[in-house]
Amino acid sequence: MSTHIAARPDQVAPRILLPGDPLRARWIAETFLEGSECYNEVRGMLGFTGTYRGERVSVQGTGMGMPTVSIYVNELISEYAVQQLVRVGSCGALTERLGLRDVVIAQAAATDSAMNTHRFQGLHYPATADFGLLRHAVEAAESAQVRHLVGTLLSSDSFYHDRPDLTERLVDFGVLAVEMEAAELFTLAARHDRAALAVCTVSDHLVTGTTTTSQEREQSFGEMVTLALDAMLATPLS
Ligand code: HPA
Repeated sequence: MSTHIAARPDQVAPRILLPGDPLRARWIAETFLEGSECYNEVRGMLGFTGTYRGERVSVQGTGMGMPTVSIYVNELISEYAVQQLVRVGSCGALTERLGLRDVVIAQAAATDSAMNTHRFQGLHYPATADFGLLRHAVEAAESAQVRHLVGTLLSSDSFYHDRPDLTERLVDFGVLAVEMEAAELFTLAARHDRAALAVCTVSDHLVTGTTTTSQEREQSFGEMVTLALDAMLATPLS
């Protein structure tokens, strides 16, 4: 039992998916895991453990934004000894190289977050994914013929931006899409020697102004979850 997770240590698996939306956590558990059981309801941030192709896997809602994802990832690492953490979420495309429903497999995450400003005091830390998970996610996307790009996300503290000019500057340097969690996940995983990855489907396009319907979001989210689960199982636990 940790401060925000009401589970015994053995109730959480070493491999865990991290959607922002706790209702998505329940949908993932019901749709993809066998014999899943809910281990957490504190603050409505649902967590479940079941099996996928015979291996134990958990799924934990994290909420939106880096302060909240930081709470769950810190506790999952320190109190529940999770080894592989994969964020499954949505993102806003910043380039026409991406279409709606495409998947971004994040190799790295730039951030405007004050969390890393405080941690590194002016040093510029490169928040990067685990290479094993990244490689296996790319292989899974290729074999399932899921349209994807591998590259850099912007993990932003703001959904509603006051400085879109700064986002444009990052796009000039190859940033593909914006979301709000990956940089903190990657940074904490590196700090504690765990493996982390983020895969995000494009739910809205900030260049073309288009958005997906809820039905489209559910279908593409499902493809991405399968990809994330396959990547985790293909990557040995350390
Ligand atoms: N900004 C931040 N996070 C997001 C977005 C966005 O436009 N779309 C989906 N997640």
